[in-house]
Amino acid sequence: MTTDNFEPKILAFCCKYCAYAAADLAGSMRLSYPSNVKVIQVPCTGRVDITYLLRAIEDGADGVYVAGCLEGECHFLAGNLRTKKRVKYVKKVLADLKIEPERVEMFNLSSAMGPRFAEIANEMTDRIKKLGPSPIKNNDQCKEVKHDCSR
Ligand code: FES
Repeated sequence: MTTDNFEPKILAFCCKYCAYAAADLAGSMRLSYPSNVKVIQVPCTGRVDITYLLRAIEDGADGVYVAGCLEGECHFLAGNLRTKKRVKYVKKVLADLKIEPERVEMFNLSSAMGPRFAEIANEMTDRIKKLGPSPIKNNDQCKEVKHDCSR
């Protein structure tokens, strides 16, 4: 499903040691990437809980991704490996809910990979544009549930 003029909302949880630094480098190199991607700095991707990813989708993000250090280079040893498993789990949860699991992804890069950071942002934006808006946004049933929960 695609929608004309659809500009997706995408959240990127980026480790400060690698992906966030790579985003800075991309900026210094004057590499452009879509403004659809909102970067959130985290001290390590190991801090990105399953609930953060699901909550982002529930709150209206069309896509969300985690960008951490290269495997074997996490400053907290295995934070990125734990989150890789969490992302895989969230993909399964989305699939069970009939939501495209491709809306969530994990990437690994180093602080020197500014061009790769921009490439990932473009790749995810293109992917989500092809998928179209999140089905959660137009689901009245979800809105009712959310309303009930806010009491
Ligand atoms: Fe970068 Fe753990 S410190 S993913």
